[in-house]
Amino acid sequence: MSLLLRGRTTKSTWEMAKAEPVCPPETMDSEDMLFMLYTSGSTGKPKGIVHTQAGYLLYASLTHKYVFDYKQGDVFGCVADIGWITGHSYVVYGPLCNGATTVLFESTPTYPDPGRYWETVERLRINQFYGAPTAIRLLLKYGDEWVKKYDRSSLKLLGSVGEPINHEAWEWFYNVVGEGRCDLVDTWWQTETGGICISPRPSESDGEIIPAMAMRPFFGIRPTLLNENGKVIEGGDVSGALCIAQAWPGMARTIYGDHQRFVDAYFKTYPGYYFTGDGAYRSDEGHYQITGRMDDVINISGHRLGTAEIEDALDEHPDVPETAVIGFPHDIKGEAAFAFVVLKDGITLTEQAIKEDLKSIVATKIAKYAIPDHILMVKRLPKTRSGKIMRRVLRKIAGGNTEDLGDITTLEDPTIITEILEAYHKYKTEEAAK
Ligand code: PRX
Repeated sequence: MSLLLRGRTTKSTWEMAKAEPVCPPETMDSEDMLFMLYTSGSTGKPKGIVHTQAGYLLYASLTHKYVFDYKQGDVFGCVADIGWITGHSYVVYGPLCNGATTVLFESTPTYPDPGRYWETVERLRINQFYGAPTAIRLLLKYGDEWVKKYDRSSLKLLGSVGEPINHEAWEWFYNVVGEGRCDLVDTWWQTETGGICISPRPSESDGEIIPAMAMRPFFGIRPTLLNENGKVIEGGDVSGALCIAQAWPGMARTIYGDHQRFVDAYFKTYPGYYFTGDGAYRSDEGHYQITGRMDDVINISGHRLGTAEIEDALDEHPDVPETAVIGFPHDIKGEAAFAFVVLKDGITLTEQAIKEDLKSIVATKIAKYAIPDHILMVKRLPKTRSGKIMRRVLRKIAGGNTEDLGDITTLEDPTIITEILEAYHKYKTEEAAK
């Protein structure tokens, strides 16, 4: 740093020289805010999730130690961006609380080539490698050679986070990357939970791992499944809304500046429980598998986005009065966005020009990864008599299931569906011709 500064603005160099090399620690209350991270919910406005000092740090450090079986001297490699919760908890706070050597990965999995992760593993002798399924799905398409080229003998454990990991990705990560000798943990948690809540813990005596399953609650976590009437679902081989029945140290304390929204978003749907927004399955053995979001939140390449957030951005276009954004399954990204866009009458721009505008609005207002893969211009959106968009029908169309759209008798005007399907088939034909 000093070398870089020398010869440049000497004034600032002197200013730096005047500063104390040691910053005295500040005493904080255990419940003082540690940081705030914005995340998406099912409405357009992102939520500033607040974590506090003691509980969060305790939870991040304990989960880091026990889930990843961290031992003193290990080199811990979480390749998430530190701007997200995974980077906060498992690049910065968890490992550093435990005195670990932690890796800051600043590239992308394919730059300069698809061997980047494994070259990093070899060069830094990484012991635990923690990444996202979307990257694994992408890398497996490049073949095994990019992995095998590098020495991965330092690896002891692999981890997956942020979205459901499909079986193909799990098996490739386990067998090719981990050579079938490293434990692979699928870890479920959220920005709001502060740290991992459900995950196998292979270091323990009952450390069996079932592929692609988050399996076990961490210490102090009481997962509970509830049905649509708010009743607890008992037993095995059952599915329901995933809730947590008791507070834990790492849980978020509030939404910055809007405590009521915090209460409404997480504690109102199922009184007495924290509602995660996810659905889950519990097997006869009591193991949990996350089945996906139950609200209008989608997960694109591990990035959590409210469909309303994308709709708000699209609606900013002066020629666009209304939109509906739906998630659909995508081979590599896990999910992608499909936008149904209504245009005003008498527009002067071409549809293509409006599409380009819409993409750049989303890229600027949210991020590039939020740009819908498909933008379909439609005359109207299918609404029920009470004015609600019938999203389940759009979800089927976005997923390519145009044959059986289910019951549409409650639509105000069912002929809208014929219109949308016509536009959809025309769009698909044009896409195929490209
Ligand atoms: O839907 C779940 C999914 O990601 C959501 C949380 O997103 P975010 O707050 O951005 O935090 C991501 C990193 C922890 C969850 O509500 N999710 C996270 N991990 C998994 C998962 N879905 C399935 N399996 C997982 N292991």
